[in-house]
Amino acid sequence: MAEDKTAGTEVSEAQIAVHWKEEETYPPNPQFIAQANMTDPHIREKFGEENFPNCFKEYADMLDWYEYWTKTLDTSNPPYWKWFVGGKLNACYNCVDRHLPKYKNKTALHFVPEPENERIEHITFQELYVRVNEFAALLKDFCGLKRGDRVTLHMPMTVELPITMLACARIGVIHSQVFSGFSGKAAADRIVDSGSRVLITGDAYYRGGKLLDHKEKADIAVAEAAKEGQKVDKVLIWQRYPGKYSAQTPLVEGRDFIVNDVIKNYYHQEVEPEKMNSEDVLFLMYTSGTTGKPKGAQHSTGGYMAYVTGTSKWIQDIHPEDVYWCMADIGWITGHSYIVYGPLALAASSVIFEGVPTHPDAGRPWRVAEELDVNIFHTSPTAIRALRRIGPEEPHKYKYHFKHMTTVGEPIEPEVWRWYYNEVGKKEAVIVDTWWQTETGGFLCSTVPAIDNMKPGSAGPGVPGIYPEILDDNGEPLPRGSNKAGNIVIKNPWPGLMQTIWRDDERFVKQYFERYCANKNSTDWHDWPYFAGDGAVEAPDGYFRILGRIDDVINVAGHRLGTKELESASLMVQEVGEAAVVPVPDPIKGVLPHVFISLKPGFEPSKEIEQKVTDMLTREIGPIAKPGRVWIVPDMPKTRSGKIMRRVLAAVAAGKDTGDVTTLANPEVVEKIKALA
Ligand code: PRX
Repeated sequence: MAEDKTAGTEVSEAQIAVHWKEEETYPPNPQFIAQANMTDPHIREKFGEENFPNCFKEYADMLDWYEYWTKTLDTSNPPYWKWFVGGKLNACYNCVDRHLPKYKNKTALHFVPEPENERIEHITFQELYVRVNEFAALLKDFCGLKRGDRVTLHMPMTVELPITMLACARIGVIHSQVFSGFSGKAAADRIVDSGSRVLITGDAYYRGGKLLDHKEKADIAVAEAAKEGQKVDKVLIWQRYPGKYSAQTPLVEGRDFIVNDVIKNYYHQEVEPEKMNSEDVLFLMYTSGTTGKPKGAQHSTGGYMAYVTGTSKWIQDIHPEDVYWCMADIGWITGHSYIVYGPLALAASSVIFEGVPTHPDAGRPWRVAEELDVNIFHTSPTAIRALRRIGPEEPHKYKYHFKHMTTVGEPIEPEVWRWYYNEVGKKEAVIVDTWWQTETGGFLCSTVPAIDNMKPGSAGPGVPGIYPEILDDNGEPLPRGSNKAGNIVIKNPWPGLMQTIWRDDERFVKQYFERYCANKNSTDWHDWPYFAGDGAVEAPDGYFRILGRIDDVINVAGHRLGTKELESASLMVQEVGEAAVVPVPDPIKGVLPHVFISLKPGFEPSKEIEQKVTDMLTREIGPIAKPGRVWIVPDMPKTRSGKIMRRVLAAVAAGKDTGDVTTLANPEVVEKIKALA
C-alpha cells in the first residue's frame, strides 16, 4: 500500500479512498477488557450532545483543584472558548505533589540512555518532587522568572526535560519546547515570537551512536534572535553527564550557565506551586501552517490538563501500576500530552528514551520493553515501518507483553497495522489509532479500547465528547457513512483545544474557523465548527479514515513541515530562482519532501547546487527537512495565472501519471521534467 500513498496531493488522496477495501475488524482481548478503565458501552451517549458541555466535568474531576470552577464552558466570545471558568489549579502539583502520599517511592520516570552500556535511571515521584522544586527555585531566583513569562526550551530527550517543564508549570512560567532536532535558527524564530529572554538547553545528546554537540545551536539561536530584536540574557545548559561538559562549543561568560553547577545553590529548596487560573497559559507548542511562519499553539492549564488526563485514562488505559512508553519526542505535542502531562497526572511510570529506535539494531525497543516490563507502548507509523523492515522477526525474541499499543501521527497502512498487531502486540495487545493535532491538545478520533473493535487503517469514531463530521467544499455535510472524501471538522469545542495562536488571534480564527463559520456574530458554538485541515472519509460503521493534509503542509514521519517554510529556505540559496516543495511517498517515512528548483539566469545545474539546497534546509529547519531529492528543472509547470502546479511535480516525483496538463501555460516543460526522473 505504501507506494499508493501520496498524502498531500488532493487527487491521489481521493483515489486512495476509492480504492480502499473495507477492512475486517478485530475485537479487543477479553483480558484487556477485564482490567480496562473505561468499559461503559454507553459512554459516547453520556458524552453526547445533550450532555455537553457538562460531561467534561468527569475529566476535570480527575484533577485536584485549589478552587473548583463555577462555569464549565463560557462561549460568550467565540471561538475563544473558556473551560472550567473560575477554577484554580497547578499542573505540576497534579503531576507530582498529589501523588506523594501514595506513590512517593514509585518510579515516575525511567530514563533510557541510547548507549546500552549506560544504566537506565529510575526517578521516583519523591525524587521528581525534589528536583522540580530545586529547578523551580533556580528559575525564580537566578533567572528572575515569574508567572506569565515565556521561556524557550531546546532540550534533547533527557529526564531534565520533563523536570524543566514541570518546574516552569510550578511557578506559572509558560514553556515553549522546541524539538531538539530543529536548528538553532528554528529555535531563534520561536524565541523571538514567544518573547523569551531565557533559553534552556542541553550540552549534548546521543543519536544513532554519536554524542552530538547541541550547545552550538544555542549560540546560533541567541545570535539570530538578537538580529530580530529579541535579547536572550541567560542560557541555561543541562549536562548530559552531570559534572562534565560534553560540548565542544565554549561557554559565553555572563550568559551561559551550567545548571548542574548553579543548582547546588538551590539544593533542598521548595517552591509553593502558583495557583493558576484555569485559562492561564501552560505552554506554547509551535507548529507549521499554510504560511511560512510557525504558529504558537497556546494551551491552557485547566482545559488542557483535564483533557489529557481524561484521554490518557480512557483511551491510553493508563493505571498507576502501568509502565507506559511513548517513543515520541517530548519536543512534539505527543510528548507533552502523552509522555509528560497525561501519564504523570495519573501517576504512571513514564519512559523517556534518548535514542533512535533502530539503533544499534531493530531489537532495541523490545529489549527496553522487556527490561522495564513496559505494558503500554505508543509510537508512530514511521517507526513501525522502520522496525518492520529492518527487524520483522525481532519482537518474537523478547519476553515483553503489551496490553495496549498506540499509533499516531499519520495514516497507517493496513499491512503495517497488521504487523504491529501480530508481531509487536503478539495478538494480545489492543491498538488505538489516535487522530489529533498539535492544536487539539489531545485525541479527536480513536476507538475506546475496551469497547470498540479495531479496524486497520481507520482511527475510529470521535472519542467521547468529540463530534466529528465530514463537510464538502460548500460546508454541506456529506451523508453519514457515505465513504466519500471531504473535510473533517469537529462540530463542538472541547477542553483540550488550543486557546488561540500566540499573539495572533486573527490567524487563529482564519485558519481554523473562518472556512465553515455560519455566522460570525453567533455565540452558539454550533456555528463554529473546528476545521482541522485534513481530508477524511466516514465508513457506514461511523469510523473515520484520515486521508492526510489538504493544505500546503507535508507530514514527514508524523511531523508537520510547512511547504512554504521549506520553499523560502530553498530560495535562500543564491542560485535558486524558484522553488516548489511537494510530498512524495516513502516506504519508511510515509512522505518525504522533494524540492524542485529552477535556477536564476546564468547558472547551470550541478550537484553542488543540489547539495547547497539540502544543506540550507538542514541548517534552517533541521535534519527532519532533509529532502528526498532536489530536482533542478528548466522551468516550473505553471497555470496561466502563473501558479506553480505542485500536483504535476508531485506526480512526476512519485512516478505517476501527471493527468491532463494541456491547460498549463507551458505544457512542454512537463516532458522535460519527466526526463529527469
Ligand atoms: O494529518 C493529520 C496527521 O498529523 C496531523 C497533525 O500533526 P501534528 O500537529 O504534528 O500532530 C501530530 C501528533 C498528533 C494531522 O492533521 N495525523 C495525526 N494523527 C493521525 C494523522 N493522520 C492519520 N491518522 C492518525 N492517527
